[in-house]
Amino acid sequence: MTTLSRAAVVAGLGAYVPPRVVTNDDLAAFLDTDDEWIRTRTGIAQRHVIEPGEATSDLAVEAGRRALASAGTRHADAVVVATSTPDRPCPATAPDVAARLGLGHVPAFDVAAVCTGFVYALATAAGFIAAGTADTVLVIGADTFSTILDPSDRTTRAVFGDGAGAMLLRAGTQDEQGALCGLRLGSDGSRSELIEVPGLGSRTRSTGLPIKEEDTYFTMQGRAVFSEAVQRMSTAVTETAQRIGWSLTDIDRFVFHQANSRILAAIAERLEVPAEKLVSNIERVGNTVAASIPLALADSLESGGLEPGHRVVLAGFGGGLTWGSVALTWPDTATA
Ligand code: UT7
Repeated sequence: MTTLSRAAVVAGLGAYVPPRVVTNDDLAAFLDTDDEWIRTRTGIAQRHVIEPGEATSDLAVEAGRRALASAGTRHADAVVVATSTPDRPCPATAPDVAARLGLGHVPAFDVAAVCTGFVYALATAAGFIAAGTADTVLVIGADTFSTILDPSDRTTRAVFGDGAGAMLLRAGTQDEQGALCGLRLGSDGSRSELIEVPGLGSRTRSTGLPIKEEDTYFTMQGRAVFSEAVQRMSTAVTETAQRIGWSLTDIDRFVFHQANSRILAAIAERLEVPAEKLVSNIERVGNTVAASIPLALADSLESGGLEPGHRVVLAGFGGGLTWGSVALTWPDTATA
């Protein structure tokens, strides 16, 4: 008899975006931009943003609640929240989310890997399960980048939106539908300046000098990030597939971080992925950072794009720089 190691298996999926929609025309009313530029250069038509006074945890709680409900449970042994827009710099957002979900005194912590956050959090949760530290882990990707964008920056304002997505993982075996069966993570801190909020951290605060307002906003060197994103996500997917003996043609669905539809098209061309295998919801939600991959999964599930047994590969890329990929089979139980 083959001994199968303890694997993390998808038990539930939930997604939430705040109701307020900002269209490209809404942005064009006060920024030097237009619907055609944004659609052509990014594939985005609209994004969702929070109301004044709302915070990342509010979205995370709702997505988490939906993931638990989809798994038919009210319990999780641990909570991992991937975010780079926590409610406060300290403490982490996850303990608050766990408490508001009524999960009791479970371990709860944040993972900060910007747009790769959900992939890093899945890997962390899978490690908890493999080690026997937890039998179930609620993994949430949630961000409210609308709170850190420069109001006058037409590029980042066009791209980013707010949202949250969550997945409940449970202990199971490698041969079950829904099992996470391979992953690959990486980083390159020597290029951290490509995506950053320069101020607000210890480096700036330790100077004792007043913090310039522009340094409190998110900045991104778009073109350099674009080519890194294409290269890193393509390689991460290829290496993950190789490790577990899948050929790229075996994979039924590719769920990349939704940064720009031209990035998705470039990766698809490089890896020869047919359009019907490429999951994308960027048109309706924009780049939702750590929420992007679970939101895209939930969207695909709702529209019948994911079927039990499908071989699925997720891939993320973002600030750090960080990147990563997770391979799984789709279960027959998870509903968004
Ligand atoms: O999520 C983490 C990872 N992030 C990514 O992967 C994002 C990767 N980068 C991108 O998606 C793209 O680089 C952007 C969407 C951010 C920018 O698109 P781009 O095609 O690379 O544009 P660009 O920055 O090279 O700018 C081209 C022109 C510039 O004008 P000039 O200098 O040529 O006169 C910009 O000022 O487009 C201008 N521009 C705009 N014009 C109208 C930039 N943003 C806008 C805008 N509306 N919203």
